Amino acid sequence: MTLNIGVIGVGMIGQDHIRRITQVVSGARVTAVTDVDLDRAKAIAAGLPSTKALQTGQELIDDPEVDAAIVCSWGPTHEEYVLASIAAGKQVFCEKPLATTREACERILDAETAAGKRLVMVGFMRRYDEGYRAMKAVIDGGEIGAPLMFHSGHRNPSVPGHYTSDMIINDTCVHDVDVARFLLDDEIVAARVLTARKNSLASEHLTDPVLFIFEMAGGALVDVEASINIQYAYDIRGEVVGERGTVELAETNPVVVKGSGRFGGRVPEDWRERFIRAYDTEFQEWIDAASRGESTGPSSWDGYAATVVCDAGLKAMQSGERVEISLREQPELYRTTTITGPTGTD
Ligand SMILES: NC(=O)c1ccc[n+]([C@@H]2O[C@H](COP(=O)([O-])OP(=O)(O)OC[C@H]3O[C@@H](n4cnc5c(N)ncnc54)[C@H](O)[C@@H]3O)[C@@H](O)[C@H]2O)c1
Repeated sequence: MTLNIGVIGVGMIGQDHIRRITQVVSGARVTAVTDVDLDRAKAIAAGLPSTKALQTGQELIDDPEVDAAIVCSWGPTHEEYVLASIAAGKQVFCEKPLATTREACERILDAETAAGKRLVMVGFMRRYDEGYRAMKAVIDGGEIGAPLMFHSGHRNPSVPGHYTSDMIINDTCVHDVDVARFLLDDEIVAARVLTARKNSLASEHLTDPVLFIFEMAGGALVDVEASINIQYAYDIRGEVVGERGTVELAETNPVVVKGSGRFGGRVPEDWRERFIRAYDTEFQEWIDAASRGESTGPSSWDGYAATVVCDAGLKAMQSGERVEISLREQPELYRTTTITGPTGTD
């Protein structure tokens, strides 16, 4: 079966996912696109075989030639389209964030729970990265003993002009929040944020770098160093310290170059280069599951937890205080799939 996909929001990541669906992965085609910038949607549709540009996201979700939807519009619009997809009984892949507030995420949890089956996957692509998957396999295999600490590093060479200090938490560290829950198989129960001496290369209005610290329910500690103007590269670090060993992400370059009295290799230029294979795997697994009428990977519960933790992180950054985090009771629907990784299905 070929899965007919409709794409809502054809900006930067929407266009990249269309390229992925049409040129990289198998089993799907893009039958419809929409965007508030209708001219953009029409231009994208014109460059694809048998793809129509529709006026609204609702029209796209209702279209009989759309089996499943991808939501790549701006964050505050995600809730509306995810709820509409659930109401239509269609599988939906939603780019992060699932929704921008706790309340909006809870409305999605309520709707999906009432539907009685998982329909939503959230685009936390790090769970599909070979390095993180290998780390998780080592932790779950028990070789390093119970995980005690996770040191995460998220280093961006620079950020665009519209980037605000809040985004260091809810746009950048949101990925570290999800991957901490994924690797440690546990929920985050408290957060604090420490700010270091400011990077003089950062814009006046930005807080950079920060140390975002989580306490996990089981007692493990996580520290996320987020540096957003570090110039040299896009560098993602990760090390879990266990009771009798450690596991860390290896460098991603395939070769080591030696010359002129030094050795070294390439560090990725940006997030696309670093995670390109993870996005491909993420989409292939979502398409395969959606074609069977199933959902897979990061769930609405994971999207909800990430939004709640980032809210707490923002409060912690503003107040300088430790902020406790509480999630609602987890519905049964998510118990078998939460944090267990991308291979779980309902
Ligand atoms: N997983 C990741 O690593 C990752 C990476 C990049 C972006 N994202 C997420 O993807 C989403 C889109 O990001 P982007 O960088 O592509 O932004 P973008 O601004 O390039 O594109 C967003 C598009 O959505 C359209 N749009 C806005 N509101 C809409 C609505 N109500 N209905 C239909 N279309 C609408 C805009 O006109 C624009 O074309 C964001 O939520 C972002 O956080 C995730």
